[in-house]
Amino acid sequence: MNYNIVTGACGGIGKELCKLLALGGNNLILIGRNEEKLSDLSVELKSLNANVKIDYMAVDLASENSVMNCFSYLKDKNYKISGLYYVAGIDTRKGFEKYDYAKLTMQSRVNFESAVLFSKFVLENRANELKIMVVSSACGLTPMPYFSLYSATKASLIYFFKGLKGELKGKKVKITIVCPGSVTTREDIIEDIKAQGLQGKLSKKSPKFVCEKSLKALEKNKTVYIPGFYNRVVALISKVTPYPIKSRIIAKKFKNKEKDAF
Ligand SMILES: NC(=O)c1ccc[n+]([C@@H]2O[C@H](COP(=O)([O-])OP(=O)(O)OC[C@H]3O[C@@H](n4cnc5c(N)ncnc54)[C@H](OP(=O)(O)O)[C@@H]3O)[C@@H](O)[C@H]2O)c1
Repeated sequence: MNYNIVTGACGGIGKELCKLLALGGNNLILIGRNEEKLSDLSVELKSLNANVKIDYMAVDLASENSVMNCFSYLKDKNYKISGLYYVAGIDTRKGFEKYDYAKLTMQSRVNFESAVLFSKFVLENRANELKIMVVSSACGLTPMPYFSLYSATKASLIYFFKGLKGELKGKKVKITIVCPGSVTTREDIIEDIKAQGLQGKLSKKSPKFVCEKSLKALEKNKTVYIPGFYNRVVALISKVTPYPIKSRIIAKKFKNKEKDAF
């Protein structure tokens, strides 16, 4: 039987994606860190569509052991994977010198390395057709001082999945890299968006908007998708702005705005 893996399933964007996928009749494997939250989510999704099959597993994506245990479990179940939705991510933002070693490893692994491991797993255990959606960020479109690890890991997702898509051409695999601007998910993110004033107002999108549009982009096999017209215009302006200017603006904006929710 075919299943779709969603990492970050209990988070703001992940949960919305799970709801849409369940309503669309897709069987799901939910990945998150908290077993109780995963169990509650599976009940909620079943109430939306009793016909879908839901399995879940608590996995720490920062731990290679935990990820490998997850793969063994899924292999034993003989699930065929028709979709990978890699949503999990850590958006810690602070000067690099303020990080400790453990946090550097954690953010790198959750944001990028485990996405690569999951891609390998789903390709080895794929159904006839496979869809991969990975949630990067508009922050992955340019290097960002004081957000440098986050933007680098999100940029790595763009490079890796673009390259992979080239390798898998003609093999019935659709790949879309989603680069959202501001999405109204966690309380601290909503506060952060409010503090950005007009820019935040224009950039912000609901998880529902982002997920619905991104699923459509995946259906069309769009490679990089930026949800929202304003965010696409900003990305275009950013592309033609010389980096030294951008770097100064970004550094000034984020120098004293730390966040660390994980
Ligand atoms: N919100 C935005 O403005 C925005 C903008 C651009 C991109 N994004 C990206 O969108 C994705 C979802 O963000 P969100 O706003 O929905 O935030 P969120 O609610 O905080 O979701 C993040 C998810 O990542 C999971 N996660 C973190 N560390 C993990 C670990 N060690 N092992 C397993 N799972 C882990 C969390 O799992 P638990 O359920 O176990 O906590 C959570 O479900 C992220 O990749 C983020 O970078 C967000």
